[in-house]
Amino acid sequence: MESDSEQIRRRLTFAIISHPDAGKTTITEKLLLFGGAIHIAGAVKGNKAGRQTTSDFMKMEQERGISISTSVMGFEYGGRVINLLDTPGHADFSEDTFRGLSAVDSALIVIDSVKGVEDRTRKLCEVSRMRDTPITTFINKMDREGKDPMELLDEIERELSIGVRPLTWPIGRGRSFKGVFDLRNNHLYLFAPKASDVPSEVNAFTGVDDPGIDAIVGSSLADKLREELSLVSAVYPPFTVSDYRKGLVTPVFFGSAINNFGIRELLDNMVEFAPSPLSKTAQERTVEPEEDKLSGFIFKIHANLNPRHRDRIAFFRICSGRFERNKTYLHVRTGKPFRSANPTAFMAQNREIIDEAWAGDIIGIHDTGTFAIGDTITDGELLNYRGIPAFAPQIFRTIRNADPLHEKQFRKGLEHLAEEGVAQILSRLKNQGSKVIGVVGQLQLEVLQARLEYEYGARCIYGPMDYSVARWIDAEDPKVLEAFVSDNERRILLDAKGGTILMLESEWELGWFAKKYPKLRFYTTNEALHGT
Ligand code: G4P
Repeated sequence: MESDSEQIRRRLTFAIISHPDAGKTTITEKLLLFGGAIHIAGAVKGNKAGRQTTSDFMKMEQERGISISTSVMGFEYGGRVINLLDTPGHADFSEDTFRGLSAVDSALIVIDSVKGVEDRTRKLCEVSRMRDTPITTFINKMDREGKDPMELLDEIERELSIGVRPLTWPIGRGRSFKGVFDLRNNHLYLFAPKASDVPSEVNAFTGVDDPGIDAIVGSSLADKLREELSLVSAVYPPFTVSDYRKGLVTPVFFGSAINNFGIRELLDNMVEFAPSPLSKTAQERTVEPEEDKLSGFIFKIHANLNPRHRDRIAFFRICSGRFERNKTYLHVRTGKPFRSANPTAFMAQNREIIDEAWAGDIIGIHDTGTFAIGDTITDGELLNYRGIPAFAPQIFRTIRNADPLHEKQFRKGLEHLAEEGVAQILSRLKNQGSKVIGVVGQLQLEVLQARLEYEYGARCIYGPMDYSVARWIDAEDPKVLEAFVSDNERRILLDAKGGTILMLESEWELGWFAKKYPKLRFYTTNEALHGT
């Protein structure tokens, strides 16, 4: 029997970050194939939403069974228990993704070799960097005529503000792509298109100068490889695991996911380097994963298949100790006891009830409306985990009930969906009854409207507001804040916890306010304000 500590150290919980179409779905599928979690290629398509339109997204939401079971995928590989967290695929900027990143200990970034670093990757990476999450990089689609590898590395360093350390190096690219050279063990993996079930052919060499390389890829590509690698070793210091774990550098791998090339090497390296569960910061103290007592937080709530029942699944990230089925724990926010008779693990394609789970694991808890995103569950200690921030909205709308006969449904639906994090409900300072909805992406507005109707039988009407920038504000001296608020009432909103939000028309205006009111502090998330 493994001890709790051994179980915890085996856990590897990570998310894949990418811009739609870079290859996330394909890679996920290959990783699961290696992990023996699925046997048929194409099984992960439920989450594929790169180019989906809103109506497709709604359809997908309604087919929620699929997206729940592929939201977290568990499998074992190389002695480690892996929890792979899916970040939603739809193209709109989504808070859900950002919250998911608070539940993982490392991330894999997938970059399309043709397109380089793209917008969404940049945004997601920024959030990971805020938490110093260790990041591994996979440059995909090497079978296509992509950018020069050196140029790609430069771009990653510059745009993602992280040091790069290539651990494999491509030989040719596009039609002349021959494979990759592994800098750590001097192996050359030969590329064969569509070799989905066959491991790539491995050739071991004494080093990059070995003449055997010429015999395999030809002298011209072999010389190019030597030239590029001498440049690489001149520019980039050697890779160290400790710099990776601190989030200072990212190891970089090259391959082609669709051809199942480079994925096994990627996974082997992740299993070797990627951190076990890390310590997590609660408002009260830092919690170590191997502590005896259970603690963790809810980072996502998903409404269940049947919209007529208010059943939901709360995604619980265990931060310390061991979780046991049927044991009574404390739901810290309400102070009430909590017990789960049917916690589920998310093995790909199905959910199964488990008896125990350890720090690092993500489990599903059946919820009848008790939990809200960010809630902490413990074995009795009054802890409140930080790191589930709300993001400053970029789109504001007034919202009102369109159907007086369904006022109750409207209120309840709005409250529930806000708890799920679909949108933030904000109040105006003067007219407390009038609600404002704040979101970071247009799609959230549409989802809110559709779900209110579909799940709660309530219809809403949005009204326009001319603001597109917001910041949480506070000041050391409460009187400064008070005076500012009373001078700018029409721009002020209160969040659910009473935090003050300033709405602005532009970034330029923000700069103007910051200059004019030097004693005010401005925040892009509510984290600093509420310590959540
Ligand atoms: P995503 O989840 O990040 O949105 O990307 P996904 O894996 O769905 O891949 C996007 C497209 O890129 C897919 O093509 C996929 O087949 C292709 N792709 C993935 N890896 C590679 C690769 O290594 N090389 C090349 N050349 N293409 C790759 P699609 O035509 O949009 O979809 P499908 O019809 O193949 O499903």
